[in-house]
Formats: sequence, C-alpha cells, structure tokens
Amino acid sequence: MASPPKHFLQFKDFSRDQLEHLFARTALVKARFKAYQPYHPLADRTLAMIFEKSSTRTRLSFEAGMHQLGGTAIYLNTRDTQLGRGEPVEDAAEVISRMVDLVMIRTYEQEIIERFAAHSRVPVINGLTNEYHPCQILADIFTWIEQRGSIQGKTVAWIGDSNNMCNTWLQAAEILDFNVHVSTPPGYEVEPERAGLIGTGHFESFADPMEACRGADLVTTDVWTSMGFEAENEARAKAFADWQVDGDMMRVADQEALFMHCLPAHRGEEVAAAVIDGPQSVVWDEAENRLHTQKALMEYLLLGKVET
Ligand code: CP
Ligand code: NVA
Repeated sequence: MASPPKHFLQFKDFSRDQLEHLFARTALVKARFKAYQPYHPLADRTLAMIFEKSSTRTRLSFEAGMHQLGGTAIYLNTRDTQLGRGEPVEDAAEVISRMVDLVMIRTYEQEIIERFAAHSRVPVINGLTNEYHPCQILADIFTWIEQRGSIQGKTVAWIGDSNNMCNTWLQAAEILDFNVHVSTPPGYEVEPERAGLIGTGHFESFADPMEACRGADLVTTDVWTSMGFEAENEARAKAFADWQVDGDMMRVADQEALFMHCLPAHRGEEVAAAVIDGPQSVVWDEAENRLHTQKALMEYLLLGKVET
C-alpha cells in the first residue's frame, strides 16, 4: 500500500520548515514567470478543481498556474456534476482521484474536504471552506515577505468577522511566530477550537477596533458576510457598522503599516475606499501572489522539495 498523499487542508498541515521552503520556491517560480522563462515540471499532470461556491481569483490562479507549470486543470462544479445530486463525497473522491494527480476543492464545512481527502489517492488542496482559506494566507504572507521581510514578531490587526480568513491568520501566527490582534463585534468572536488553535499566546482579542490597530504592522479585514451566510446579511450589516477599516484606524497603526484584503471587497462596508485604494494597500500584489504561491504549492505536493 502506497503511503498516504500530503494534503493542504488547513494552514497547520505544514510546518514552519515546509512553509519557508514554499516561500523561497515562490520567489523563484515568480521570477521565472516574470522573465518569461518556461518552467514545466508538472507536464502531463492534471488538476481537478471542484467549486461548490463562486470564485474569480482561486479558479483563475489554479487554472493558469497549472497551465504555466505544463499541466492541465479541469473545472467541476456541483451544479452539473453528480456531487450536486447526492453522490457521496467518499465515492467521488475514490473516482476523481483515480483520474487526476491533484484535487483542489472549495466547499462549505471543513468536514466535507476532510472526508474527501480521507478517500483520495492524490493530494487535496483547500481552496476555501467555511472554516479556513489557507491558500490565501500563503499569498498574504508571501506578499508581506516581499514587501517587508520576515513576519516573525510582527503584529497583524484583524478587524471584522472571525471567519475563514481570520482563523487561518491565527493558525499561521502560531506556526510562524507573529501576533494577531483581533477585534470583532460582540457575538462574532473567535472560537479557538473551530479555528484549530493550540493556544501559543499569539492571539489577543480587543473590544475596540482602534486598539487592535494601534501600532500594528499590517491591518487586514474581509467581508462582513461570507459565502454561505447570506441569510445573515442584514443583521451583520448592523452589527459590523463600527468595524470598517478607515483612515483613523490606519493612522494609529505603525507608520509603515500595510493594508491587505483577500478580495472581493465592499468599499464603504468593511473598508473605506481611501484605505483599499490608498498608498498602504497591497491588495493587487496579494491577489497576483495567489498564482505564484499556489504554483509552488502544487510543485511541492507533487514533486516534494525541488531545489532546481
Ligand atoms: N480571495 C479569493 O479567494 O477570491 P475568489 O473568491 O475570487 O476566489
Ligand atoms: N470570507 C470570504 C472570503 C472570500 C474569498 C468568504 O468565505 O466568502
């Protein structure tokens, strides 16, 4: 029996050493891409991308990335596959993983992707679940490293919902040794167990978003209502009204602070236009880096630590 494949289902599936390898590889893969140097280590490999929720960046970055590495990507969604008609996820995993080399899934509960992975012969990547968005945090931390160097010891202010992005920042802080100051409205607080935290003291909670931002090196936020929670839209719009990242919050952060948002963004809701379109915002680099970090991720999951 072959050994089980490596998966990337949540950020803490990778050690600090593995993440550092990925960030170093990303820099190299990105430089090659920018210099128009063909690099096809995944020739003849196939990626299946399964989407149960909408996507622009995740779909495009995985599809373009696999093509650029010499492989092929196939898009599947629940509307026109048997997955949407009640085929058990375990059966789908058995079949799909006999036909492709790698699978990326965007779905609802984390439990769904865990069940798929348990029955998959090939590596499975989390392209967003209700609980986590590990590929986005790979890109965000790589963007930080490009702009400012190591993230160790730095302070990230998370303003808004304790959602999949927030949970993943918190996991990353425990592995890479930085701090996250979280401010959420009452009733929307972080649930450490759901976030998958071990409790290393890298997370502090603040009632006042201004206090969470004070002195922070990076200020970040996300939509007030994530995909799958649309029924709560109205209640959330009321509850989150004071949790908009605006110029005042950026002014109390470190002078050199960066602003990040995974996108898509709602100007005038979770972020003021002046911030996301302002000089401290690196959101377009962040989005572009989805492509480069995921190319390094796919290379690593299929070929291990490539050094060339
Ligand atoms: N940030 C992100 O995952 O974007 P998409 O929903 O467009 O994939
Ligand atoms: N938290 C958001 C992220 C979208 C990329 C959501 O889950 O909808």
